[in-house]
Amino acid sequence: MSIAKKVKEIAPSLTLEITAKAKKLKSEGVSVIGFGAGEPDFNTPDYIIDAAKKALDIGFTKYTAASGMAELKDAICTKFLKDNGLEYKPNQIVVSTGAKSSLYHAICAVVDDGDEVILPSPFWLTYPELIKLAGGVTVYVKAGKENGYKMTAAQLEANITDKTKCLILNTPNNPTGAVYTEKELSDIAKVCEKYGIYVISDEIYEKLVYGGEKHVSIAALSDYMKEHTVVVNGMSKSYSMTGWRIGYLAAPAEIAKGVSSMQSHTTSNACSIAQYASVAALNSPESDKFIAEMQQVFDERRKYMVKTLQETEGVVCIEPKGAFYVFADVSGCYGKSFRGEKITGSLSFADAALKCGIALVPGIAFGDDNCIRLSYAISIEDIKEGLRRLKEFIGELK
Ligand SMILES: Cc1ncc(COP(=O)(O)O)c(C=O)c1O
Repeated sequence: MSIAKKVKEIAPSLTLEITAKAKKLKSEGVSVIGFGAGEPDFNTPDYIIDAAKKALDIGFTKYTAASGMAELKDAICTKFLKDNGLEYKPNQIVVSTGAKSSLYHAICAVVDDGDEVILPSPFWLTYPELIKLAGGVTVYVKAGKENGYKMTAAQLEANITDKTKCLILNTPNNPTGAVYTEKELSDIAKVCEKYGIYVISDEIYEKLVYGGEKHVSIAALSDYMKEHTVVVNGMSKSYSMTGWRIGYLAAPAEIAKGVSSMQSHTTSNACSIAQYASVAALNSPESDKFIAEMQQVFDERRKYMVKTLQETEGVVCIEPKGAFYVFADVSGCYGKSFRGEKITGSLSFADAALKCGIALVPGIAFGDDNCIRLSYAISIEDIKEGLRRLKEFIGELK
């Protein structure tokens, strides 16, 4: 018996691989600073935890509607109106087991076998695998450093064919930290409208923007975009609730209905307790304060990291405006050797760096072999020590 082709072709996550390598070294007593973190290093706030305890106490432990409990959908509608100027009805909202699940369902609902999906590159490594699973074909569009790692409307237009069905946008972006401006999104929206293209807009890092930057949802830019965009968001990053597994999407009613039907057979509802707690997270006035404090801590680390990396020889990095990653170009180090072994790309750079006690994610995982991704969702002490080691490691290259 052989495993199905569509599953055989799925690439294992390089981010998890590097984390596993770092963990193994740590268990052997080696000191490793891990820059791979994909989740905030803050506890979920107490008032959210208390709401989960209440859910258990009152017996809110059974199935909910497959697409999510009514109170949570109401809270999500309120959030969209308040934060994004988007008016949705509850039948346009589907709550899922994490935004990853929302994304997979959204792609399945929009993409038919052989349809092309445009993906600006660098990209979050999960998208191409989900597109593959859904039967779509990824068309990568290089969003270069010179344009802040953002795809232009002209680039989008140049890559459209009669098979193009949709575009996946991710702002603020993982791995680059790029944040699209309203003007950039509006230019992209015009091209989408001209060619009748859907957008799946992953806005999970929406609350983590810095330096006066503003998050804009492309869905809010015109009636056409609202009717042709699936907005994906979730509780993981904004409320430090990665383990609770609550994501959600907002879409035209027909798509939301399709996603809900699909989900009713795949996972049914997301965890009832986590949904109950998410209502508290979205509705509590304490959340604004929690998010503002987290955002300020991230911003301080971001500034330190960018400044230090910019002062490190062989490293070029542009300032990320959102999320909690720095995407640094280390190709200046390629061709040199570390203890007799040649650095030929981001994989060998990351492997050699690990020998010096620094775990980094190679950029090739995100479609750019010139770069590495460093997360600042770790303590400032670890950032300082990790960057000191990085400088020392690069200094050792010959
Ligand atoms: C860009 C992006 N979208 C979605 C997700 C998934 O979030 P969730 O934990 O809700 O599945 C992540 C998580 O790392 C992410 O980086």
